Amino acid sequence: MPFYHKLGKIPPKRHTQFRKPDGSLYSEQLFGTIGFDGMYSNIYHEYRPTQVKEIKKQYSVAPKIARANNMESLRLKGFDVKPEKDYLNSRKTVLTNSDCSIILAAPQESLKDYFYKNTDADELIFIHKGSGKLRTFLGNIDFKYGDYLLVPRGIIYQIDFDTEDNRLFIVESRRPIYTPKRYRNWFGQLLEHSPYCERDIRKPQELETHDEKGEFLVKVKKHDDIFEMVYATHPFDVVGYDGYNFPYAFSIHDFEPITGRIHQPPPVHQTFETDAFVVCSFVPRLYDYHPDSIPAPYNHSNIDSDEVLYYVDGDFMSRNDIEAGQITLHPAGIPHGPHPGAAERSIGKTETEELAVMVDTFKPLQVTEDGLKLSDGTYYQSWLEH
Ligand SMILES: [Fe+2]
Repeated sequence: MPFYHKLGKIPPKRHTQFRKPDGSLYSEQLFGTIGFDGMYSNIYHEYRPTQVKEIKKQYSVAPKIARANNMESLRLKGFDVKPEKDYLNSRKTVLTNSDCSIILAAPQESLKDYFYKNTDADELIFIHKGSGKLRTFLGNIDFKYGDYLLVPRGIIYQIDFDTEDNRLFIVESRRPIYTPKRYRNWFGQLLEHSPYCERDIRKPQELETHDEKGEFLVKVKKHDDIFEMVYATHPFDVVGYDGYNFPYAFSIHDFEPITGRIHQPPPVHQTFETDAFVVCSFVPRLYDYHPDSIPAPYNHSNIDSDEVLYYVDGDFMSRNDIEAGQITLHPAGIPHGPHPGAAERSIGKTETEELAVMVDTFKPLQVTEDGLKLSDGTYYQSWLEH
């Protein structure tokens, strides 16, 4: 996150002696990304974070590809994903490429029996249903409906859910996820034209410090394998840290829409960026107010990017027959646009209640077996006039 955060206790000068009440040293860890060039934090542990006792298992969780090269517009019925007790097992990759994966999950139980660390990817977890607490070694964050949780790669975490009824839309990104650069000044501060600002970003506020030795299972994801690693000390043993690398939350309900007299293009909805895809939030807003405006979008060719839309709530004005929890995929290479009747239907409307998350990827997405199972098989013909 491009601003400074400090939590817990730290010494006044980095890389200097920082001692426990018994006189022994705390263990310092520099935790950074992109070598020594990216964002980093300096973390102080009760124990050395390197105490691996055993590597018990290694197994692949790579998604099975059903369609490597896809030209079919798809509608995936996301709520057909079956709820499962275990958090990691519940996560079903439906679309993927070498930069990112689109995952749907309906976990029923809190993650308590083990810890999870994804070293492959930043995780952007959108909470469609459910509430609870993201618990990480860099502090905890409460979450609820509409929150994006951004968990940078390497953050060890667990997740508590308040009930069994949870629906998550997750983007795993092998490229770091940032706030869009054009929203920031050269100091990193979010500018006046940004649709959100630092006050909308929720940082970890509650630090759990467990001074415990024993056996602690951490499931570590690396190159699409899970390594079951047993550590000799509790992974949440941090007494303090400072820096720029930490998890945070941002609610889609805090995204302030940008509107205009005529139809505004998708970049006005942009929320996050990487060098491989963008994430946009479509939120309730006033429609275009030119007297002859057509609020529905024009046909468009995202000729060199795949477009994933995840429908969260409200009527989606450009689509007929779309329900919450569904994903549409409009593949690169062919145009798409409003469904028959949608343009006329939109004229004269003054506002929309739609809520959706869009992911536009610059490389084409492959469809997985879990993804294809959710397809209705006919969506690509839904623009035909009868
Ligand atoms: Fe589109």
